[in-house]
Amino acid sequence: MESLISLVNKIQRACTALGDHGEGSALPTLWDSLPAIAVVGGQSSGKSSVLESVVGKDFLPRGSGIVTRRPLVLQLHKLDEGSREYAEFLHLPRKRFTDFAAVRKEISDETDRETGRTKQISSVPIHLSIYSPNVVNLTLIDLPGLTKVAVEGQPDSIVQDIENMVRSYIEKPNCIILAISPANQDLATSDAIKISREVDPTGERTFGVLTKIDLMDKGTDAVDILEGKSYRLKYPWFGVVNRSQADINKNVDMIAARRRERDYFSTTPEYKHLGHRMGSEHLAKMLSKHLENVIKSKIPGIQSLISKTLIELETELSRLGKPIATDAGGKLYMIMEICRLFDQNYKEHLDGVRAGGDKI
Ligand code: GDP
Ligand code: NA
Ligand code: MG
Repeated sequence: MESLISLVNKIQRACTALGDHGEGSALPTLWDSLPAIAVVGGQSSGKSSVLESVVGKDFLPRGSGIVTRRPLVLQLHKLDEGSREYAEFLHLPRKRFTDFAAVRKEISDETDRETGRTKQISSVPIHLSIYSPNVVNLTLIDLPGLTKVAVEGQPDSIVQDIENMVRSYIEKPNCIILAISPANQDLATSDAIKISREVDPTGERTFGVLTKIDLMDKGTDAVDILEGKSYRLKYPWFGVVNRSQADINKNVDMIAARRRERDYFSTTPEYKHLGHRMGSEHLAKMLSKHLENVIKSKIPGIQSLISKTLIELETELSRLGKPIATDAGGKLYMIMEICRLFDQNYKEHLDGVRAGGDKI
């Protein structure tokens, strides 16, 4: 049987294929009800780096300044062991990328197609799917970083524009927030904590991630933060060490970076006692588990939305006449098929929820 998260991934993709995650469309409520994880924080706090290490692949543009200029909706699909991994963009259907450097280039190029080669931003998302035996099933959203001032080439409204765009993603009750704060800045100045507290005051759906622990001033450490003594969140804090800009320039690969991260937490005296719950791999596992629990708890709601959507889709189909050959009609059929699949599968998962799913 197909996993629950990958079914949800398919519905999300189907909704987008139909141009239906915005306003005035047939399925916005369905889209909005499906959980995803968004990364928020100040510019260059390490958001794209964290996403890359959660995925375990090098494929995102990273660096100083404004690099991420459009939302990236990233769906990870776990394949069977031994399968060949590849990536696919929604705007380039049927083109399989096996070279992840080419994926990074396509993200940059597709960003420029919408915004020009500027420092401008666009709220139109890029959709990317990665199929691999080495990922966990997850939907992740990379967002432009929050800033304080417009730089040369940006309109004065950009600070507010970015904030509004970020808020439009994370204010949805079904968005799980990965709030990224760099350890080499005071937590009291964290844009991530500020905006996530605003949209999620009780911290029900916020995970705090502390980056750049390796860059803290000598004589200081992040133990109080990581133990939840500085700023308490509902869930434990995660600490990570991503690659530095020098590492990126030297092409230090992901496997080496992860090994170094593991060594860092297991050998640094201050963090030894926390080592088992630090690092990107642990973060990825916890996120997947959490997402699955959230989906399970929402199954009855999603289910009733799907029934409603099926009726709407059938009405839409009859309005279009005999549409199988037309693009829109084909997509509608695809969505209905996925909804039916979900319909068939949900009961078993619901039984699992009643039997008591594991909590993280
Ligand atoms: P974003 O703007 O929030 O997406 O941040 P990026 O992921 O693009 O990272 C910004 C810069 O910070 C890059 O040069 C990264 O190499 C660097 N960086 C991110 N995380 C860490 C970390 O944990 N340690 C170190 N030393 N550098 C990091
Ligand atoms: Na950056
Ligand atoms: Mg980024």
